[in-house]
Amino acid sequence: MRHVLTVLTLTAALSACATGEGPPPASLSPAAERGQQFVLRACAGCHAVAGREASPNAVAPAFASIRMRHTAIGLERSLAQIARQGHGEMPPIYMTNAEMSDIVAYIESLAPVATAPWTTESPQYTALRP
Ligand code: HEC
Repeated sequence: MRHVLTVLTLTAALSACATGEGPPPASLSPAAERGQQFVLRACAGCHAVAGREASPNAVAPAFASIRMRHTAIGLERSLAQIARQGHGEMPPIYMTNAEMSDIVAYIESLAPVATAPWTTESPQYTALRP
């Protein structure tokens, strides 16, 4: 009986892990922490900034997927351009160089999401159809 209970407990613990959800890593560097504060304030209205959650704005890519597709240098360039001109539906957002490198540190701290968590029937795609 004890044995069965142990197995059940283990199974429950394992399936809790398998959902892949849970708080982001607790130990952010100070720069990443500042970046996190900035993006929660300035970006989270449109982008999923933490994990695999859906973005509030369906066409704004999740930061975890941006993490996957950009190097740190590419990301910093892309942010510099966003600060000046915005892009797409996104308005220009003023960021200092220090803020941009904090944001890069935060995005680099995310676990990359290799595949987009949506399909061709999701709003991210259907919104782009003519
Ligand atoms: C008003 C909504 C909105 C806000 C606020 C916003 N974004 Fe975006 N962002 C978008 C949309 C929509 C796209 C995709 C559109 C496009 O690429 O034309 C995008 C795309 C991006 C991309 C390019 C992704 C890629 O695939 O290369 C980056 C980087 C980015 N956003 C960073 C940020 C950061 C950092 C902030 C906060 C400082 C922010 N965004 C705030 C809507 C927003």
